[in-house]
Amino acid sequence: MPPLWSGRFDVDPDKDVFAFGKSLGFDRRLFEDDVTGSLAWAEALVRAGVLSAADAAAIASALEEIREQGLWEPAFFDGAEDEDVHALVERKLVERIGDAGRRLHTGRSRNEQVSVDLRLYLKRRVPALQAAVARLVAALADRAEAAGDALMPAYTHLRRAQPVLVAHFFLAHAAACRRDHARLAAVLGEADELPLGSGAVAGTSYAIDTAWLARRLGFSAVVANSMDAAGDRDFVSSFLHACALAQVHLSRLAEDLILYTGEEFGYFELADAVATGSSLMPQKKNPDPLELVRGKAGRAIGHLTGFLAAMKGLPIGYSKDLQEDKEALFDAEDTLAGTLGAATTVVATLALNAEAAAAASAGLLLATDVADYLVARGVSFRRAHEIVGGLVRRLVREGRDFASLSLDEWREASDLFDANIAAHITPRASIEARRTPQSTAPDAVRAKLEDVKAWVAAHGGV
Ligand code: ARG
Repeated sequence: MPPLWSGRFDVDPDKDVFAFGKSLGFDRRLFEDDVTGSLAWAEALVRAGVLSAADAAAIASALEEIREQGLWEPAFFDGAEDEDVHALVERKLVERIGDAGRRLHTGRSRNEQVSVDLRLYLKRRVPALQAAVARLVAALADRAEAAGDALMPAYTHLRRAQPVLVAHFFLAHAAACRRDHARLAAVLGEADELPLGSGAVAGTSYAIDTAWLARRLGFSAVVANSMDAAGDRDFVSSFLHACALAQVHLSRLAEDLILYTGEEFGYFELADAVATGSSLMPQKKNPDPLELVRGKAGRAIGHLTGFLAAMKGLPIGYSKDLQEDKEALFDAEDTLAGTLGAATTVVATLALNAEAAAAASAGLLLATDVADYLVARGVSFRRAHEIVGGLVRRLVREGRDFASLSLDEWREASDLFDANIAAHITPRASIEARRTPQSTAPDAVRAKLEDVKAWVAAHGGV
């Protein structure tokens, strides 16, 4: 079968160059959406008085049949030489019903067809990614709940900073994941405009009721400008960005868990089922799945930057460069789905080593609480910081921490320290002293946990 545009040319296309331009190998993933768009387009043509009801009925039943075969018969695509999925569907249609099939493309361009297909595809597939994000949030909430009142150190600059509840740590990652979910929802909003009616670039000269067609296909609006619509892939870029940033969050979660499950930290233990061994060193329990979760962020970021680079020099309207959108989009989707699945399993099976985590949350990382103690007794924060800094210098020199100080030693630093100082300077007292709703105060964390659980229940529950 010659290409859809062969009439204009004296000779057949060069085989290799044609193969270079073919997208069927990957855009067949849009097959179902292409048929959906074509079914609606046939109805719109009838309403515009361009297509007879009889032709439309023949087109509809043939397209339905094509859809069933394409979805369920593995051999359907075998040996297809078509340039892209749009050409394939049209060829199958013409093979079945002849001339009526040749009328379907009236007033329509593949430029708008590929756009509507991609938009329908995202509307169909993004909710599955959102559900996978919600499953990870549920697993994080579950670990937060199971951790109870266990403590661990929080880090800044990867140096022990202040004690926090282990639950606070899990909910921190859940907060980032919830933003990923919202970002994917925004992508759906951006994809939610009907491009059909734009023609190749200037609009169509047939009386297509675009408002009706938008409703028929589940879009809430029609694009504003046909020239813009032909080359607008902002919704693809936004999707790639949402995927890349979600992968960055997953990578940071993975990095935390790689560190905290290692010998040097030991706050958590990886389940055997999600760890790997070494072919050489019998003692090794490696976090390969987490390392891959971390590593996959690179390719997701690459898809975003690569596609933005492909877009940046394009003149307004359609250019074939835009065909590069699909492999980036599909791989970003597959990568995110796979990464979310692995990360969720690792989190769900993580065991807490409460003693090690608690032990690491005591010690000099209570210095800020000592300064706050002096501030409560009228010392300016800067002065208090200086006094405690001096005390810390001494403790470091002597290899001790606050818990070992006698009252006399406290008072050498400041006579504002009272006998109650020891009770104030513990990891538990530190977290209980927090006052703000986003803090690690136990009441605040409990409230956030309830909020996250309610969110999970409202987003598919698990
Ligand atoms: N396969 C093409 C793409 O992915 C479909 C649109 C082709 N349009 C064109 N004028 N060649 O963008």
